[in-house]
Amino acid sequence: MCGIVGYVGRRRATPVLLEGLHRLEYRGYDSAGLAVVHRGRLRVTKAAVRVDELRDLVEDNQPGAIGIAHTRWATHGEPTDNNAHPHTDATKRVAVVHNGIIENAGRLRERLTEQGVTFTSDTDTEVLAHLIAAALRRDATSLEDAVRSTLREVNGAYGIVVLDAQNPEQLVVARNGSPIVLGIGDGEMFVASDVAALVRYTQRVVYLDDGELATLTADDFVTSTLQAHRTAKTPMTVDLADADYDLGSYSNFMHKEIWEQPESVRRTLLGRLDERFGTARLGGINMNARALRAIRRVKFIGCGSAYYAGQIGANLVEEWSRLPADAEPASELRYRNPVVEEDTLYVAVSQSGETADTLAAVQELRRKGGQVIGAVNTVGSAIARECGSGVFLHAGPEVSVASTKAYTNMTVCFAMLALSLARVRDLSVSDGSRIVSALDSLPQRISEVLATESAISDVAKEHGGASRMFFIGRVRGWPVAREGAQKLKEISYVHAEAYQAGELKHGPLALIDADMPSVVIVPDDELLSKNIGTIEQIKARGGPVIAVTNASLPEGLADSVIEVPHSEPELDPILFTVPLQIFAYHLAHHLGRDIDKPRNLAKSVTVE
Ligand code: AGP
Repeated sequence: MCGIVGYVGRRRATPVLLEGLHRLEYRGYDSAGLAVVHRGRLRVTKAAVRVDELRDLVEDNQPGAIGIAHTRWATHGEPTDNNAHPHTDATKRVAVVHNGIIENAGRLRERLTEQGVTFTSDTDTEVLAHLIAAALRRDATSLEDAVRSTLREVNGAYGIVVLDAQNPEQLVVARNGSPIVLGIGDGEMFVASDVAALVRYTQRVVYLDDGELATLTADDFVTSTLQAHRTAKTPMTVDLADADYDLGSYSNFMHKEIWEQPESVRRTLLGRLDERFGTARLGGINMNARALRAIRRVKFIGCGSAYYAGQIGANLVEEWSRLPADAEPASELRYRNPVVEEDTLYVAVSQSGETADTLAAVQELRRKGGQVIGAVNTVGSAIARECGSGVFLHAGPEVSVASTKAYTNMTVCFAMLALSLARVRDLSVSDGSRIVSALDSLPQRISEVLATESAISDVAKEHGGASRMFFIGRVRGWPVAREGAQKLKEISYVHAEAYQAGELKHGPLALIDADMPSVVIVPDDELLSKNIGTIEQIKARGGPVIAVTNASLPEGLADSVIEVPHSEPELDPILFTVPLQIFAYHLAHHLGRDIDKPRNLAKSVTVE
């Protein structure tokens, strides 16, 4: 997804902009560009190139202490030099970088064309540059005024930064549905679409809200609404360092993040487990025992892997607290006019905290009086702010498109939420203590899974020639199978589908043959014999089976076995997902895929 960086201060802007773009590369892009102002002239360099190649096109030491930069992921128009951002007006006075989609760009383009404007790109963004420049020529009293009047004409989602060659001491930025964060330096200001681009320079940040604008100068920033009302923002300090975004000795971020899981799970458990009373304390949800008891239903909403993590959460809530619970994709909920009950607890789940569908679902639920809490990794993100209360995942920055450590921390947080709901109901203190101690030893169990990486990698290579795969699970194993299939398909491009074990015979079994390996989730629990039966069904049709299990299966039952350590059975879904991450990773690696930046995908999906 596109990335934005802006700078105004006293040092040369170009190296800051290039370094910021480099930090945003993980989001995926197809072209890059930057614009700086020096002595009243705008210098724009942009092309369908990688950031390193852009670096070769600009002089690193080109003067100019104010500038904007962008990595583009094509939506309107092909990935070409002309379509790369920044976009300018015809006189090269105004330059704009933009994330998001301007929905009425077509109509605005027609109107501008009738007025004699010639467009140089196919993008929706270019209309903004022409409109802002026209407003400045007409009657705008300031750059902010010109941006505000332009944005009033625009429908759609945007995060923008605007530079005016005749106003070389300020940047104007605005947000509506696409993240913008300001970085407060000492005599310099930064802006970006992702805090990753800023933390090298400052940890003091301000997140803009939707419908908000800001004018930045080297020493100050002022925020206001689209209606020109001043807003008050207090900078917050983010607990992130530039090194958090370094690969260290790993060759890609997914591998690094898989291996960070023991530590990131430890971090999310820290101070939240109560051994004495066999429960968990989640301070951020602001609910006492009485409020927890008043909840009659729990509903998890999220997209993709966050939705699958929610499914694990729903199973845990039902199993321990006996409250009805389920999970739903936020992308569905936002459009289906949901029945919102006041005693339902809605849990919005998101790593980035910026997923447009999840944010819109939260807004819809809140509009109808729903009680929504967040389970979010990114502090200060739109979903975290919209929910107001909730649980931070504490996974640390997750760079790889494929979610691993954030996913695992979601499920661990849901186990703690389920435990706290259950312990104000019928779950006994001894059962609570059993769960607390299993959660406490999860980091160690995950380390044990990681220690088997080379065996899992051998299994992945053995099946590296398959072009399609099934992932089969039952009850606790069902969301595990879904997440396993998700990981494999997104990074390896192998067609992977998940099915409930009992559903196989109702259709999918027809697809089983020697070229369709099935990864079967076989926990050592009360459904073990049923899952063994499923493997036999698949074997009888000639399908190869990879069993992921902590049980001792009959010799020769499965073609390959991935062994998982024992934990408490309810926590198996958390632990069983880790070997599937490793399996997907090694299979994709074997196929030579670009693991951190899978084709067609973005790390945070801020558009519909
Ligand atoms: C995970 O591997 C995927 N890349 C994707 O499904 C992701 O979980 C989804 O887009 C939701 O993102 P979020 O957690 O940032 O809201």
